[in-house]
Amino acid sequence: MLRSTPDARGYFGPFGGRFVPEVLIGALEELEREIASAFADAGFWKEYAAALRDFVGRPSPLYRTERYAAGVSAVPLLLKREDTNHTGAHKINNTIGQAFLALRMGKKRLIAETGAGQHGVATATVGAKFGLPVDVYMGAVDVERQALNVFIMQLLGARVHPVTGGTQTLKDATNEAFRVWAERVDDTFYVIGSVVGAHPYPYMVREFQKVIGTEARAQCLDRYGRLPSDVIACVGGGSNAMGIFSGFVEDADVRLWGVEAAGDGVGSGRTAASLGAGSVGVLHGSRSYLLQNDEGQVSETHSVSAGLDYPGVGPEHAHLKESGRATYVSVTDAEALEAFYAFARDEGIIPALESAHALAFARKLAAERDANDLVLVCLSGRGDKDIAQLRV
Ligand SMILES: Cc1ncc(COP(=O)(O)O)c(C=O)c1O
Repeated sequence: MLRSTPDARGYFGPFGGRFVPEVLIGALEELEREIASAFADAGFWKEYAAALRDFVGRPSPLYRTERYAAGVSAVPLLLKREDTNHTGAHKINNTIGQAFLALRMGKKRLIAETGAGQHGVATATVGAKFGLPVDVYMGAVDVERQALNVFIMQLLGARVHPVTGGTQTLKDATNEAFRVWAERVDDTFYVIGSVVGAHPYPYMVREFQKVIGTEARAQCLDRYGRLPSDVIACVGGGSNAMGIFSGFVEDADVRLWGVEAAGDGVGSGRTAASLGAGSVGVLHGSRSYLLQNDEGQVSETHSVSAGLDYPGVGPEHAHLKESGRATYVSVTDAEALEAFYAFARDEGIIPALESAHALAFARKLAAERDANDLVLVCLSGRGDKDIAQLRV
């Protein structure tokens, strides 16, 4: 069985660890100690669960689609509806947990990076809820393509800082957030948006997103009396996927599928499929798969979806890939867009472009399954944020 907790140095198999400048080591150790104490404290989880229930609106529904896959398969296609969460995506599960930790640690402000803006919105939301000022770093390209979310963050009182270096997307926003954190580690809590970064971030974020898989597993058993045959989620950094996978990783018969953004195609050079087209290296503090050239320079990435447009992936996914427990595939921009429009028309739900990648693959996979199977897809978020980009 795979280790579900990283080892003492923060490794999932050979992946993970802590590759950061000296100045951040103390802050990561402090966070590690706080996590150990909070996670062992029933009161912490009680408060977290109450906030998820009353503020986020959990449990999110398990919903059986009606038409989207009907033309290709009789298999029930189930959605875990993270789009119904307050702020419209799974990101809020994680920011609530990290905000509680920041309060326990007496930190005075929150910082965050964001790509699609959903994590920035979720951080701005908990900042407003808990009375903590928030600074969000966002690539200038993403500021353009996710203008609605920038406005929402500002409405919530957060300051949004456009980052103009590099490709002006999530990687550059993350670099900047790390730099700012190093300058003010004493009073600042860095709320990371996915299962990436140095230990203990990948582990901590997964624990906060685990609620997706725990709920989905119980809902499947309750409603259908059996587990899904397949669980599918899109993978940017990998937090919604790790969240839903965690509920099923010990069920050997449940196949786990992570769907990366192929962009123009995995071999095209314009892609964001880190597991599909990348190699092992170090990015943002941990060892995992990333898109890099022969000299180890991080490559430019491309995806129509801002939330998947990231050259790295969480270390636990690298471990799940190499151990064979999960399978990683990819979907192109064109396929994701086709799924986005078809799903909206067929189901009355506008999916996030990120989630549309999972839906595109789900329909292909459903065609290979029969009516006794159950295919479960994590609908990680809603697509309102993407509408302005698509209308241009
Ligand atoms: C709706 C949605 N889904 C998925 C993602 C990808 O992130 P992760 O792979 O961490 O779930 C994002 C990131 O912004 C998002 O906004």
